Parts: sequence; structure tokens; C-alpha cells
Amino acid sequence: MQSFEHVPALRALVAEWRGQNKTIGFVPTMGSLHNGHRSLVANARARCDRVVVSIFVNPTQFSAGEDFEDYPRTIDADKLALVVDGVDALFLPKVKDLYPRGVDNATTMVSIAGLNSELCGAHRDGHFDGVLTVVNKLLNIITPDMLFLGQKDFQQLYMVKQMVSELLIPVEVIGVPTYREADGLAMSSRNQYLTEADRPKASSLYNILCSISESLNQGNNDFSALENAALSKLQNLGFVPDYIEVRRQQDMAKAKAEDKELVVLGAAKLGKTRLIDNAEVSR
Ligand code: PAF
Repeated sequence: MQSFEHVPALRALVAEWRGQNKTIGFVPTMGSLHNGHRSLVANARARCDRVVVSIFVNPTQFSAGEDFEDYPRTIDADKLALVVDGVDALFLPKVKDLYPRGVDNATTMVSIAGLNSELCGAHRDGHFDGVLTVVNKLLNIITPDMLFLGQKDFQQLYMVKQMVSELLIPVEVIGVPTYREADGLAMSSRNQYLTEADRPKASSLYNILCSISESLNQGNNDFSALENAALSKLQNLGFVPDYIEVRRQQDMAKAKAEDKELVVLGAAKLGKTRLIDNAEVSR
């Protein structure tokens, strides 16, 4: 596996691969890799001739007071895993490689009106502008054929697909199913913040989303009653919920009784760990 810190050398390798008609798969990450990331890599490995992974803890997607400084950084273990998983190139940029004018002077940002301040965006100021901007930059550098993202971050996946479509970026965005622990907890680098006492409770978020999806499947359309009951359940278990919402899959608008393809989305804090998850429903 070749590692790159700077843009020009990585661009030269991509040009060489293009000259050989190789397809390129790309997995963007913030490191601290777990089996969820490794399943993104396995999907890329299975579908593309060459695989690029980036590790960059992107400062612009953290709001004031969030865990940017504390975000787990495990670069040596990450590199070993990526070599074992057959990754061809690792991109490890520094802030100045991706934000040439510095983060505070960055004036060009990608933003999707509306959704940027809904759901997770309502609780994480500027988060999605930061995500979309960095993903756009990485796509401009790597120019992959396929981009692999996890379905756990449903809103992120949806918004990246929307950006790719509206900005006419020539890449296919592939959503990879959420990788879960045995009790259903979605894998996340932030799970390591969970205390021993909180860990067994953490899977309740997914269980509660699944029980809403079962009710929806049985034809229950009282979305706000289902959402409110779930919020109370979470509070009783010691979570501090940000939101539980039923939305339509195709455009993430609020669900209506006639909608068939729904997604139940939730985010809640357990101690200092912010957990997010979702459950899709086709009825
Ligand atoms: O999902 C993530 O880890 C990040 O939001 C991403 C897509 C790597 C952008 O920094």
C-alpha cells in the first residue's frame, strides 16, 4: 500500500491508473477504523480494480464544543488493517493540503439548503457543510468511479448523493449496509467513548427504531405518537435524545400516511457518546 500526504503525488498515481483503464473505488474515513469501515473497503475491493482510502479528521464538520480534539486517532492500527484488506493507496492529508487558505479563511463551502439544518443538522451546526465540502474536495482529487459510504449515516449518504447529482460529479455513490455488533449496536468510532455501564444500554436506540418500523409495517400512521413514545422510552433509559423522526426514503421529507418507503431516524446521547442509527421500512 502506498501512502500519500500531498495532492500532486496521489493525482499522478490516479493518472497512471487511468492510463491503464483501471476502475477506482474510494472510501473516505476519519480513521479509528472498525469492521464497518472494513466492510466499505471489502465492497470497494470487490467492485473496483484499485482502492483508495482517506483518513482525515475533518475540522470543518465538528461544531464548537464537539469532540474534534478527542476524536480517536489510531493511525498505526489503521494502516495495518488497510494493508491486510488489500488497499492500494492511503491518503493522509494535513489540513493545509485540503484547506489551502486554512480552515478559518475557507470561503468556498458546499451546502444543501434545508437538509443542512434538519435532523442531525439541527443539532450539529455546520456539520453537513463540512462533510459535503471535504467529500467534494476528496472527489476532485481522487476522481473515483465509485464512492462507498455507510448506510448508518443515512442523512450524510442522502446528502452526498444529492450533491453528486446536482454538481454533476461523475461518480457512483454506493451505500453499504450498517455493520452491527451482536446486540445490534451500529459500529462507530465513537462507541469507544461508552462506559462499561452504558454499553449494554446502547443497542436500545436501534431496538426502539426497529419497533417503530414494525408498527409502521403494520399500518400505523400516527408518526408523532410513535416518535414521542420512543423519545420517552429513550429518556427513561438514561439517553438524552436529539430526535426520532419518520421520513420518506426518496427525498427525506416528513412522512405521510400514503408513503410506502420510509426510514426511521434517531440520534441520542448516552453519557458523552452521541449515537445515531436508522431503520428502513418498505410497506
Ligand atoms: O462519515 C465519515 O466518517 C465522514 O463524515 C466522512 C464521510 C469521512 C467525511 O469526513
